[in-house]
Amino acid sequence: MPEIRTIGVIGLGAMGAGIAQLAIEAGYDTVGREVTAELGQAAADRIGHFLTRRVEKGQLEQGQRDAAVARLTVTTELEALADCDLVIEAIVEEIEPKQALFAELDRICRADTILATNTSALSVTEIAAATTRPERVVGMHFFNPAPLMPLVEIVQAELTSDEAVEAAATVGARLGKEVVRCHDTPGFVVNRVLIPLLNDCVRALDEARVTPEALDMAMKNGAGWPMGPCTLVDLVGIDVHVHAAEALYEKLREPRMAPPARLVAMKNAGLLGRKSGRGFYTY
Ligand SMILES: NC(=O)c1ccc[n+]([C@@H]2O[C@H](COP(=O)([O-])OP(=O)(O)OC[C@H]3O[C@@H](n4cnc5c(N)ncnc54)[C@H](O)[C@@H]3O)[C@@H](O)[C@H]2O)c1
Repeated sequence: MPEIRTIGVIGLGAMGAGIAQLAIEAGYDTVGREVTAELGQAAADRIGHFLTRRVEKGQLEQGQRDAAVARLTVTTELEALADCDLVIEAIVEEIEPKQALFAELDRICRADTILATNTSALSVTEIAAATTRPERVVGMHFFNPAPLMPLVEIVQAELTSDEAVEAAATVGARLGKEVVRCHDTPGFVVNRVLIPLLNDCVRALDEARVTPEALDMAMKNGAGWPMGPCTLVDLVGIDVHVHAAEALYEKLREPRMAPPARLVAMKNAGLLGRKSGRGFYTY
């Protein structure tokens, strides 16, 4: 395995920009790829802005911030990632675009480059199958927002080598994350447990006829949850949760995995939670 010095991040949306920020702060030269120069520049600006806020809060020195920002290059050219030691993909959550991208990366990147996907609910094994190097394809599942959430799941797909898993785990730790290694099963560890649990919470709203406020209060005080389930789903995004629940249901066929009708209706009505200004709560 190569020593990881340069990291490529593909897709600089909510997750990719956060991952790129972690990478430059940890001292990795980082190449971010977006579909247009405007989207790439907007992501670089957002990252620069977040790091400035960290300076203002006294968490980072100005010189460290400037050095971190200087480690980031943004591009629209996939070929610019040819020399990366590790590439982390964070594009749309659909199998065909991910497989097409991995096939291209397989062609462009060095033979020893490790290719990682940040997928939440797709099969890492299926994504790896689009390449000729499945032993070097691994899942690196960060949580949103990536700079703040302490966990990363390192996912070993069917043909991933132990060495690739360890290399990805080492990077995860250097990015400041707690690392859990797991196998490639739907939802990995956290979502496998959390998605049906949150679905049950939403069903309990209607069955027990309680308000979101009452349910959140009950789970905080009766189960020791740090945040109520309705607050959490609003934060995650109703659309993101419904999409992940549908993906898990499709794979596992367990009724608890299917998104409750109430959440699907909220998604269809554009009540997406915090990001749209309204979900269970109004923001
Ligand atoms: N949002 C979450 O809570 C969350 C949490 C963990 C994992 N994930 C996973 O991370 C991935 C990205 O999710 P997100 O929420 O950041 O999505 P997002 O829509 O915010 O960002 C995706 C970005 O990828 C870009 N993109 C699309 N195709 C591209 C390509 N071929 N090359 C370069 N850029 C491309 C888009 O322009 C967009 O900016 C998904 O697989 C998702 O399941 C999301």
